[in-house]
Amino acid sequence: MNIFGNKVKLRAIEKEDNTFLLEMINSPELEYWVVGSSLPTSSIEQGNWIDKVGNSHDAIRLVVEEIEGGPIGFANIVQIDQVNRSAVHGVKFVSDFRGKGFAKDTVRAVMKYAFETLNLNRLESTILEYNEASIGLYTKACGWSIEGIKKQAVYKNGKYNDLVLIGITRQDYEQIQQS
Ligand SMILES: CC(C)(COP(=O)(O)OP(=O)(O)OC[C@H]1O[C@@H](n2cnc3c(N)ncnc32)[C@H](O)[C@@H]1OP(=O)(O)O)[C@@H](O)C(=O)NCCC(=O)NCCS
Repeated sequence: MNIFGNKVKLRAIEKEDNTFLLEMINSPELEYWVVGSSLPTSSIEQGNWIDKVGNSHDAIRLVVEEIEGGPIGFANIVQIDQVNRSAVHGVKFVSDFRGKGFAKDTVRAVMKYAFETLNLNRLESTILEYNEASIGLYTKACGWSIEGIKKQAVYKNGKYNDLVLIGITRQDYEQIQQS
């Protein structure tokens, strides 16, 4: 089942997404903002990854499309813990589609899917301390809380950077729905 927000559709990755995903994974600008680090990736490697990656109840990876448009970003719900009913969530958008509310719509759609369909009890993520857009997106626009700081956890851009831990419980989510 695809996941819909008001402005976005989240769907499984297709072979045709190779070029789009390759541009994102090889973008130095995106690399600056995300927590992980990517090696230079070829279309062959990206194609192999697409061939073997499949959605399951352990990990879900999604291309974000503008409704009635093309791909604009990527979202995931991974490390789905069947006992503790928790998962890790991440999102990234190509620069032309930032600042237009697509990310807010996407995260809200992911929250609804995670809590109301997957029956998860908790979502969490980590954000580089300097990524104010991402911290604002989750805390101000989507109701997540800052739960802690991992000091000097990520070496990037020539220095160790703190990592902000954020999360939301199903209880928080339900309170937001009621307010
Ligand atoms: C982080 C990212 C997903 C935010 O997307 P976006 O398109 O700017 O978000 P939206 O337009 O949906 O804005 C949603 C909210 O985010 C917050 N926000 C956006 N930019 C912000 C900024 N520069 N500073 C503080 N808050 C900001 C605001 O609360 C905004 O809501 P508002 O417009 O009602 O005030 C996007 O910038 C991105 O893809 N960046 C590169 C990859 C990345 O950083 N991924 C996250 C890794 S943890």
